[in-house]
Amino acid sequence: MLFQKIALPLALLATGALAATGNNSTLTTATPTAVSKGCSFSDFTATVPSQVQEVAACPTAVGNIVILGSDLGSSVDLTGVKQIFGDLSIKNATRIISFVAPDLELISGNFEIISATVLETINLAQLTTVGTLLWNHLNAINSTGLTSGLTTADSVTISDTTLAALEGINVFQLKTFDINNNGNIQLIDSGLKSVTDLLSVSFNSESVDVKLDYLTSAKNVVFQSVNSISAANLTSVNGSLTISSSNLKELSLDKLTNVGAALTIDDNTKLTDVSFASLKNIAGAFEIADNTNLGDFGDFEKLATVGGSVNFTGTFDNGTLPALTRVSGGFSLDSDGDLPCKEFNKLNSDGVVKGDKYFCAGKSESTSSSSAKSGSGSATADSSSSGSGSASSSSTSSKKSSGSSNNAGLTGLFMSMIMMCFGVALI
Ligand SMILES: *[C@@H]1O[C@H](CO)[C@@H](O)[C@H](O)[C@H]1NC(C)=O
Ligand SMILES: *[C@@H]1O[C@H](CO)[C@@H](O)[C@H](O)[C@H]1NC(C)=O
Ligand SMILES: *[C@@H]1O[C@H](CO)[C@@H](O)[C@H](O)[C@H]1NC(C)=O
Ligand SMILES: *[C@@H]1O[C@H](CO)[C@@H](O)[C@H](O)[C@H]1NC(C)=O
Ligand SMILES: *[C@@H]1O[C@H](CO)[C@@H](O)[C@H](O)[C@H]1NC(C)=O
Ligand SMILES: *[C@@H]1O[C@H](CO)[C@@H](O)[C@H](O)[C@H]1NC(C)=O
Ligand SMILES: *[C@@H]1O[C@H](CO)[C@@H](O)[C@H](O)[C@H]1NC(C)=O
Ligand SMILES: *[C@@H]1O[C@H](CO)[C@@H](O)[C@H](O)[C@H]1NC(C)=O
Repeated sequence: MLFQKIALPLALLATGALAATGNNSTLTTATPTAVSKGCSFSDFTATVPSQVQEVAACPTAVGNIVILGSDLGSSVDLTGVKQIFGDLSIKNATRIISFVAPDLELISGNFEIISATVLETINLAQLTTVGTLLWNHLNAINSTGLTSGLTTADSVTISDTTLAALEGINVFQLKTFDINNNGNIQLIDSGLKSVTDLLSVSFNSESVDVKLDYLTSAKNVVFQSVNSISAANLTSVNGSLTISSSNLKELSLDKLTNVGAALTIDDNTKLTDVSFASLKNIAGAFEIADNTNLGDFGDFEKLATVGGSVNFTGTFDNGTLPALTRVSGGFSLDSDGDLPCKEFNKLNSDGVVKGDKYFCAGKSESTSSSSAKSGSGSATADSSSSGSGSASSSSTSSKKSSGSSNNAGLTGLFMSMIMMCFGVALI
């Protein structure tokens, strides 16, 4: 874990400095300054207003605080509390309408608000630093109340809320940024630069615009059901990248050079433009499927290597992979558009496709082959062909009539003969 909960001396009046001022998740140097008598709690649970007031009396509170249940009245007011060294959990506070903590700057541990179903107003005007923020099942709020915005945190997960917008998460680096099932959210705008584990924006409002203009690097990335994505400075995705089930019309990640696992673009029914102008390597599988309006599968002009298989389905009239030198798995392009197979058949015959399955279908042609080749299935195996025994077969057929079907058929036959030779050469 990046974030380590600080060891909390229960001794009062501990001295030390709060050093957590950078935009990153390292809080290990944070230590409580002067702690008043009665403000060192050990797993304190407040279920009635008088117990909340005990916490509110502490500018600095040490310990894990749980505010729980339906007997808290309509408001939880922590005005005056500046720092909590420990967790703050508000759970099942099913009657509170407001949660006010305008002086709170730091919560060193987990900050949970869970199942506050009528909570309308949150005031966290000065909160900049938390360990993990987890908000779930808040059915009446429309704003986070994070006026200053978070600059230091470990992870942020916000799900099943009525938030209208999410702004003010300007942490330099997070482990997890997971925003899901917030049905009213129209805008997610964050200054985040790096996400080391999971960045997921999924199944919120279909009209949500996602702005991650400062993001340069991430591990696994998932965008589902979004209206737009702006992440022009994203250069590296070290895990997988999935963009699916969205209303996206345009997807351009023109600075992205590397995807460390699979790249999946599927079920984006309004998508018409795809551009990955700098992408050189996809270490896993590469799938484009069920994007019903995507006539051109896009600009992948620098893509050289795919560590898994390529699998494209759609109605493609255009699309090219001009720089491709190696596909470690198979290759399947199943299109009912005008895009000819010629370019891809050549990739296969040139030995770029290492996997044993090759298939390409356009409107008027179809070519497939199946042959065991050396180096298949491995991204790191070298391409010298000291192949073991291999079986090879291929077939070519013309699809239903069109002016060029004969030509396509002949070309396909020719290709298939080349492939037979290729297969034989490997034996
Ligand atoms: C933290 O990030 C915000 C927004 O990105 C920036 O304005 C601020 O200067 C940064 N603070 C530090 C200490 O880097
Ligand atoms: C995190 O913050 C600390 C303290 O401000 C700083 O020394 C360190 O360089 C920062 N790390 C990153 C990745 O910015
Ligand atoms: C919160 O409420 C749910 C459902 O009523 C219940 O299952 C859960 O145990 C409660 N949690 C706490 C901490 O009381
Ligand atoms: C948010 O809710 C408050 C009160 O619940 C309301 O006054 C305000 O207009 C709402 N804002 C938006 C943007 O919906
Ligand atoms: C994104 O990169 C461009 C340079 O291509 C730079 O001018 C811009 O400031 C960057 N945006 C952010 C938000 O860092
Ligand atoms: C991704 O990998 C690059 C190169 O190894 C590294 O510099 C970067 O920190 C990594 N980013 C994340 C978020 O893991
Ligand atoms: C290719 O993708 C299609 C559609 O997602 C799927 O049905 C098919 O099984 C995939 N083929 C391979 C070889 O993975
Ligand atoms: C697709 O290619 C055809 C010619 O092959 C060209 O006329 C058309 O403009 C291209 N469409 C796109 C969207 O690039």
